[in-house]
Amino acid sequence: MIRSPRGTNDILPAEISKWHYLESAIRKVTTQFGYSEIRTPIFESTEVFARSIGDSSDIVNKEMYTFFDRGENSITLRPEMTAALVRACIQNSLANRGELERLWYYGPFFRYERPQKGRFRQFHQFGAECLSSPNPEADAEVILLAHSLISDLGINDYLLNINSLGNNASRDRYRDSLVEYFSKYKNDLSEDSLRRLTTNPLRILDSKDIKDNKIIEDAPQIIDSLDDESKKHFDYVINLLESVNVAYNVSSKLVRGLDYYSHTVFEFQSSALGSQDSFGGGGRYDGLFEQLGGKFTPAVGFALGVERVLLILDSLNKSEKENKIDIQIIIGDERYINSGFNISNVLRKQGLNVLIDIQRKSFKSQMKDANKNNANYVIILAEREMNDNAVVLKNMLNGEQQTIATDKIDTIKNFIK
Ligand code: HAM
Repeated sequence: MIRSPRGTNDILPAEISKWHYLESAIRKVTTQFGYSEIRTPIFESTEVFARSIGDSSDIVNKEMYTFFDRGENSITLRPEMTAALVRACIQNSLANRGELERLWYYGPFFRYERPQKGRFRQFHQFGAECLSSPNPEADAEVILLAHSLISDLGINDYLLNINSLGNNASRDRYRDSLVEYFSKYKNDLSEDSLRRLTTNPLRILDSKDIKDNKIIEDAPQIIDSLDDESKKHFDYVINLLESVNVAYNVSSKLVRGLDYYSHTVFEFQSSALGSQDSFGGGGRYDGLFEQLGGKFTPAVGFALGVERVLLILDSLNKSEKENKIDIQIIIGDERYINSGFNISNVLRKQGLNVLIDIQRKSFKSQMKDANKNNANYVIILAEREMNDNAVVLKNMLNGEQQTIATDKIDTIKNFIK
């Protein structure tokens, strides 16, 4: 048997209603907030991600699906959307003259990670990005959008961790103070953290190593390195969140794994997920447009991991059953296949969802199938009625039956609820 590649999932018909449920909630909330959908290619030139996410990040270092195509171009399957979206905006002159753009996206992403619960090599994200506003209102708006979606889905038990990395000057100051602090512990730090001390000291704060954690506990806090402008921005975001009753937790060690952030960063965390407990994250990335060759364009956004959101919904036992079959046509004899086919066609044209047997099953098994398919009604083509050019319409819920002339089939829509 040929199996799907490790870390990928088939989404089977039995699970698809959950996905549809989430997808329609996404459409609803993005419409309410006035965001427009954008779709970009699944693969990009490697430099889109290499130049933005950061050379020292795990994603660029060890997780990208990168290959040379037949034209010797270095291609990467997108590991995230923000950089790809910025590339698309620059190329298509969106947000080019400071126009506000509110965008959202949904689709598959690829990271070569060690698969485990909630962590896959192909996974899906829903995200929203607000371009051209430097103001804290934009940060608060995208957070509120995410919060609204999460609440609409019935997820109330989660944590929004939030922090500020400040502007470039604040972040540089903080980096220096971290290097100074961690350098004192060079002999005790884990190998990874020691490497990060030169490549990306902020990421040491993300370490899961127990020994590192002890040292990290007393590390300088970024809040002390923020200048007035950065502090004001962060306070404003917090203030706006409070005014719409979005609960948050200021988490001074939150730095996120991508290099393009400045000012606000945030993550959504749920205890239903186990070790991969972050089901979404985002932040402000005011420098990214310029980094990718565009004009200065302040921007902020987030992405939620779809599989992780669905795992949380599973833990809440939220099951969304889609009952989609209005009518199942039961063919009493092979002589009536043509009529059945015709009736199904007429009814579908009226907007009804209609199933018809194509396996030439017995009457009894067709009725069984109708039950299994949760059909609300069946139309039975049986000899007695067909001789009178009629069919039987049966309500599967209460068992009521009525006879309907075949030339009145198009009135059936009026009988069924
Ligand atoms: P990220 O934190 O790398 O941020 O990913 C966002 C979410 O995608 C994670 O919180 C997680 O739920 C999900 N995710 C990431 N990797 C995997 C995986 N291997 N398997 C399953 N789910 C995964 C970003 O991607 C940024 N682009 C977010 C952003 C948007 N920042 C600003 N705008």
